[in-house]
Amino acid sequence: MRTQLAPLYALLAALPTALAKPEQIRAVQDPIFHLYLQAYPDDPTIPVMGPEASSEYFDIGATIQSTNTSAYLNIAAGEAASYKTLVFSGGGEAAGGGAATDAWGLEGDTIITSTGSAYGRQLNFLVCQLGGGFWQVYLQTGSDTPAGKTCSNFQSLHLPCLC
Ligand SMILES: *[C@@H]1O[C@H](CO)[C@@H](O)[C@H](O)[C@H]1NC(C)=O
Repeated sequence: MRTQLAPLYALLAALPTALAKPEQIRAVQDPIFHLYLQAYPDDPTIPVMGPEASSEYFDIGATIQSTNTSAYLNIAAGEAASYKTLVFSGGGEAAGGGAATDAWGLEGDTIITSTGSAYGRQLNFLVCQLGGGFWQVYLQTGSDTPAGKTCSNFQSLHLPCLC
């Protein structure tokens, strides 16, 4: 019986579902191993990976919204490079701006853009170093990297656990 249910569990884990509780989002590889998604202190519109102590929590479904700031994790439109700027916007006092990006999803514990979205299924992210040990996060749809910055390509973002 247990073995017969295994494929069902695998299928359920792959479905894009809204999680019941807010979750942290973290990285699992150097140079951002176990850094967590949050707003950059010098400019809260910039999503960065930073220390666990200042981690934000997120409602994760087709949109990703910080429960700390109400801002949505949005993908900037109209950029030519394969990496796409991410922006925290559209929440709280900024509500009334553009619609929040609804391309997000989960595959197991992994943050993706969903197959049916304008980006297709993507699970790579580019991070580039900012001051203070923070790394700016971009969605990576190819292999471009910006010149003149210290970056790490092909990062992935995860829930701390499937629990
Ligand atoms: C975000 O909210 C969580 C849950 O309320 C809290 O534990 C955490 O300290 C908050 N993070 C920041 C940076 O305020």
